Amino acid sequence: MTHSTSPNPAATLTQDQLKTLVGQAALQYVVPGAIVGVGTGSTVNKFIDALATMKDQIKGAVSSSVASTERLQALGIAVFDTNDVPRLAVYIDGADEIDGHGCMVKGGGAALTREKIVAAQSDRFVCIADESKLVKALGSFPLPVEVIPMAVQRIIAQFAAKGGNAKIRFKDGKPLVTDNGQYLLDVTGLQISDPLAFEAEVSQWPGVVTVGVFAFQPAQVCLLGTASGVKTLTF
Ligand code: 5RP
Repeated sequence: MTHSTSPNPAATLTQDQLKTLVGQAALQYVVPGAIVGVGTGSTVNKFIDALATMKDQIKGAVSSSVASTERLQALGIAVFDTNDVPRLAVYIDGADEIDGHGCMVKGGGAALTREKIVAAQSDRFVCIADESKLVKALGSFPLPVEVIPMAVQRIIAQFAAKGGNAKIRFKDGKPLVTDNGQYLLDVTGLQISDPLAFEAEVSQWPGVVTVGVFAFQPAQVCLLGTASGVKTLTF
């Protein structure tokens, strides 16, 4: 991993302001005239707001969630179906954790499946995050896993066998249903020392739609909001 820091001291900025800073910094990766891949979450919302300032210079976006689609469209940015856009030059998204190799845990905003799909058709993943997300090893943030409802109890047992404590994510007193009509588990107590092996293993469990470890599609760049400005990490 290499890094450079912009000269913008941000010592007194709040976490929200750091998100705004990296959301704006991500504009430099948007290719004029192209369609940009857009992730999901509070940091990405800052990016979408910044993207609106150059909406006339892009063709539009491919979005990773209903929430991002609605925000993009409300700002007058065209949203394309993934199936109509064979390849994207860049995908910009946040993360719940990112390590020194660009591997991430994602899905805090429940959009991990569509995020992995859009990341898979992008040439470059630019992660935008505040510095609290940079970790030595993945595993402190509860790991999101999207699952088919009829497989929930067996998958919980499979995580228990690995020392993990998986709980169904609830919203408004009911299991949260993702944009894809499935459930989410949040798993604590895991040690993800080998993210590639972990992602490969859990992805094969019957009933797992998507595991929130992004090791096969890591970030190539991370714009990190820090007390000394936006740091650019490259992997
Ligand atoms: C959504 C995600 C988000 O990128 C992740 O949760 C970070 O969100 P935020 O920018 O709000 O901290 O993976 O599914």
